[in-house]
Amino acid sequence: MSMPGEGSAAVRFEPADGGLRGTLRVPPDKSISHRSAIFAAMTPEPVRVRNYLDAADTNSTLAAVEQIGAQVERRGGGELLIRGCGLRSPRATDGPIDVGNAGTLMRLLPGWLAAQPGTAWTFDGDRSIRRRPIDRIAEPLRQMGATIEPTDDRYPPFTLRGAELRGIEYVLPVASAQVKSCVLLAGMNTTEPTTVVEPAPSRDHTERMLAAAGVPVSRDGERVTVRRVERLGLDAIDVPGDFSSAAFWIAAAVLVPGSRIVLEDVNVNWTRTGFARIVERMGGIVSGELEPAGAFTPGEPVSALEIAHGPLRGTTVEAAEVPLAIDELPLVALLGCFAEGETVVRGAAELKVKESDRIQTVVDGLRGLGAGIEATDDGFVVQGGSGLRGGSIGSHGDHRMAMLGAIAGLASREGVVVEGMDAAAVSYPGFTQDLARLLAR
Ligand code: S3P
Repeated sequence: MSMPGEGSAAVRFEPADGGLRGTLRVPPDKSISHRSAIFAAMTPEPVRVRNYLDAADTNSTLAAVEQIGAQVERRGGGELLIRGCGLRSPRATDGPIDVGNAGTLMRLLPGWLAAQPGTAWTFDGDRSIRRRPIDRIAEPLRQMGATIEPTDDRYPPFTLRGAELRGIEYVLPVASAQVKSCVLLAGMNTTEPTTVVEPAPSRDHTERMLAAAGVPVSRDGERVTVRRVERLGLDAIDVPGDFSSAAFWIAAAVLVPGSRIVLEDVNVNWTRTGFARIVERMGGIVSGELEPAGAFTPGEPVSALEIAHGPLRGTTVEAAEVPLAIDELPLVALLGCFAEGETVVRGAAELKVKESDRIQTVVDGLRGLGAGIEATDDGFVVQGGSGLRGGSIGSHGDHRMAMLGAIAGLASREGVVVEGMDAAAVSYPGFTQDLARLLAR
């Protein structure tokens, strides 16, 4: 199986004296790209996808939908024409579906395939994916009637046998957009309605795309209900810029004195922008309309964000805020090193099952650069104010750890070497080139 991002490229990031300046368009959104490919594969008519993310994770999704019978025409410049196989006719594959490093692919695609009676698929991926639990999707899919056989009852590789599914009401034990999406995709095929109850709101790209495709989906407080459809109706999807990629530049501009940058066409769906609200609470300046009318399909709002350096103070991130900033919490730890007072993140045990154990890798990594940071059971506590000395940090094959190390280097006193910088290509292949543009004056 492939092992993206586990190479050993070591790259040094020097302190960015003088700051970051300029305007940048960040890469297309990873979550929305994964969903575009899966939704287009479920649609009987061809779907044109513009601005699809060309990165390791989302290329795994294109390969997966091709394996089950969709045809993907790559037209260049991020444009794809996907001819789907239709909601009820994905085909069996010769070998396992290789999800690579992509947890979203591994948790969403089974929702659709579980509802296909009489066919079985095996899923596998890289070394990191083999330690990421799938019992969280196995549980609701079994309740709906599918058979799923994970390794050690919890992990990939796993085999999924489709069946006629029944609608359920599923109360998520932890807020997870991936698990919610898995159950909703299965629910499009059940005769009774299927409802997911969220303990706290999580990213809602799936619900927005279902509505855009004409699927009956409704929300009542924390309950999301989907009803059976016979076919999806979508003809074009425009993927906006990824807020989670923008977050690295937001952190850099806030941390490095003299910085002022503009990020264009960023998706500012409120279920993704928790980090911007945390940064503002800490004293950083992020301006831009945070929920303008959506210009991008399917119903996703976009905005230009302008970010400037500002003195920071510590903050506390509580459980309800965690799903809205889940992938940016490592950056909150980094900001905490430079903020006056204490920065606390709690209710974030989910970080342990991301591309790396992000409580451990963040705490060990930043401590190695001179941070006063302690791990807790469900987050971390940072004693801030003295910044970072610098040194070296490992990515552990985790794209967000690689980019965290790079931003730490820009803000540090002595610079940082990131071991395994190539992991960034999982979500942000042009990261170091974009950095060079923001540093060029
Ligand atoms: C994602 C949801 C989040 C996030 C991941 C992408 C998605 O995971 O961490 O990077 O696209 O739905 P959980 O929903 O499992 O927390």
